[in-house]
Amino acid sequence: MKPITAKELTAEEKLRLICGQGFWRTDDLGGKLPQIFMSDGPVGLRTMKAGEDGKEYTVPATAYPSIQMLANTWSTACAQKMGECLADDCIERGVDLLLAPGVNIKRHPLNGRNFEYFSEDPYLAGEMAKAYIEGVQGRGVGVCLKHFCCNNLEYDRMHQTSDVDERTLREIYYMPFAIACEAKPVSVMCAYNRVNGTYASEYKKGFDYLRGECGFDGAIVSDWDAVRDRAAAARAGLDLEMPFSQKNYDKLCADYREGKLSDEALDACAQRVLDLVYRCKEMGKGAREQTDAAARTRAARELETEGIVLLKNEGALPLEGGLSLAVAGCFAKPDTMDMLRGGGSACVERIDKTFDIPACLEARGMKVAFEGAFHGDGVHSVVQNARTAVALAAGSDAAVVCVGTGAAYEYEGGDRRTMRLPEAQERAICEIAAACPRTVVVVFAGAAVDMSVWADSVQAIVYAGFPGSAGDEAIADILTGLAEPSGKLSETFPYSFDDVPAAQTFRSAGVTRYEEALDVGYRYFDTYGVPVLFPFGHGLHYAAFAYEGLACKVGKEGLELSYTLKNTSARDGKEVSEVYVHECAPLVYRPEKELKAFAKTFVAAGKRAKVEHLLPLRAFAHWSSSKDAWEVTDGVFEVLVGASSADIRLRVRVCIEDGKIALLGK
Ligand code: BGC
Repeated sequence: MKPITAKELTAEEKLRLICGQGFWRTDDLGGKLPQIFMSDGPVGLRTMKAGEDGKEYTVPATAYPSIQMLANTWSTACAQKMGECLADDCIERGVDLLLAPGVNIKRHPLNGRNFEYFSEDPYLAGEMAKAYIEGVQGRGVGVCLKHFCCNNLEYDRMHQTSDVDERTLREIYYMPFAIACEAKPVSVMCAYNRVNGTYASEYKKGFDYLRGECGFDGAIVSDWDAVRDRAAAARAGLDLEMPFSQKNYDKLCADYREGKLSDEALDACAQRVLDLVYRCKEMGKGAREQTDAAARTRAARELETEGIVLLKNEGALPLEGGLSLAVAGCFAKPDTMDMLRGGGSACVERIDKTFDIPACLEARGMKVAFEGAFHGDGVHSVVQNARTAVALAAGSDAAVVCVGTGAAYEYEGGDRRTMRLPEAQERAICEIAAACPRTVVVVFAGAAVDMSVWADSVQAIVYAGFPGSAGDEAIADILTGLAEPSGKLSETFPYSFDDVPAAQTFRSAGVTRYEEALDVGYRYFDTYGVPVLFPFGHGLHYAAFAYEGLACKVGKEGLELSYTLKNTSARDGKEVSEVYVHECAPLVYRPEKELKAFAKTFVAAGKRAKVEHLLPLRAFAHWSSSKDAWEVTDGVFEVLVGASSADIRLRVRVCIEDGKIALLGK
């Protein structure tokens, strides 16, 4: 069938087309057009289906680790794999457009949707999202990159305005969208909030930025019910409102009749919706899933294994076979899967219903005694059971305490009230650690947790995030050393909430001032020397790596870097190496360092591996407010290569003059 163009549709058809149909579909104009079906990601497919009783139900699917865990892999290969698996889920369920990924920056650790987002760093978020999109779209399913933009808190999200200066928008909040757009997403979803006073659904300046500077050539879709004035949104370039709203549609028709929406603007939106429909159908032609549910569960397990971060280890891990183990904390064997996921549109009804850390450890040769110690809501301590857990720990070789948050604390539509764990959990950790010196804590949470009360009293801390399907196996592999930890933090774990630069302006009424500007996450902590519990990019191994021989060359495309990673241990492992840029004497404010490249490299025990990066000139640029353009100032820059933002192992200085890079020596 030859694609229909907007010019061939009546005004009424075009008005219908830009308003969607029902909750999850575009309008097929009575069979005249193909129709696309959309469903939520980003951590698993959430397809809704009407049951016999007429109510909507979520169809069970493979759950993948939460997005911050994917980011903790620092592996674009992992992001691509997760995208491919999700595409297969979509193909199986007839989904044409996956409403994912979300690349909003973690401005603050309490944002309720942080588990859906990649990082506090725009480069890491953008690169991981780009690979995820390539994975999904490469298999023939469209994505909807979301939420554009500055939706960085859930409180009053339908109304509050994010008050952000242009440089901060460019360098921090737009940046992950710009990078992700290199993967050519077929659509972008606008946010609920206002940006500098304008509703994100009417944010023409932002839409023009996407279409102009980022080369975005897809359709802009509204977040669900984010449209306040459909004609104004269409004039701004918002193509498709979702879901269908009779009220908005009627008003749109009246506005159109009154000349408040030109035919030109209507045609532009309608054409982009048509393009989206045909593009998705074209991409999906002949698409076949290449994995079955079992393979996808295996992939979820691998992703979790690569994303788990060993935060602290004073010799307690790995657990050797034959140990007597006291496993405590109901997260080890949750009564409800809600404890292992965030809530809202990213809540996946997982196909596998069991999660059993004690059984997984037993299967790996441990002698395990389990005691839940506190309830799943994490609030109430069952004193008797907590005492039993302490007694078991006192009589065991080691204790593993499983604590966390879950959907009761982290969900769309609300923010966490505190970074601390519920008191009952903190008390259980402290009491168990006092009874058993070899205590390991495993944390199940979607964002940074304040561990200051107990971090010093335990020997090891493992961050397991919200694990997906078969995540219990992955965690047991890491705890027992069957797998090598290789994840690193994609967000800083500050000591406490008060240390976060946005703490004072996070939950303000109406206007949220982004006063900290560029100083988000490690950009702030490093610049101002504020100590943190675990820095951005931190993650330990059982293996050990040395960094050697940084060499640089100025090539046609930019600065060519290479160095060697030496695995100095007897275990095979993977090392994430991170490249930051620091401007030595800047003329405008620059944060202490900014991430510009990273790699995850396998190095066999005792062997070496070479890592190479290319830093284009752009990696040294800042957004100039005086020139309204990206600018690379003349000056001296340091390129830092590290194992975390706080653990720089190699450095080299370069000089830039008139846009030309020259080496300066070490
Ligand atoms: C969320 C989106 C989601 C949409 C559809 C909204 O409430 O903000 O992320 O894709 O609902 O479920």
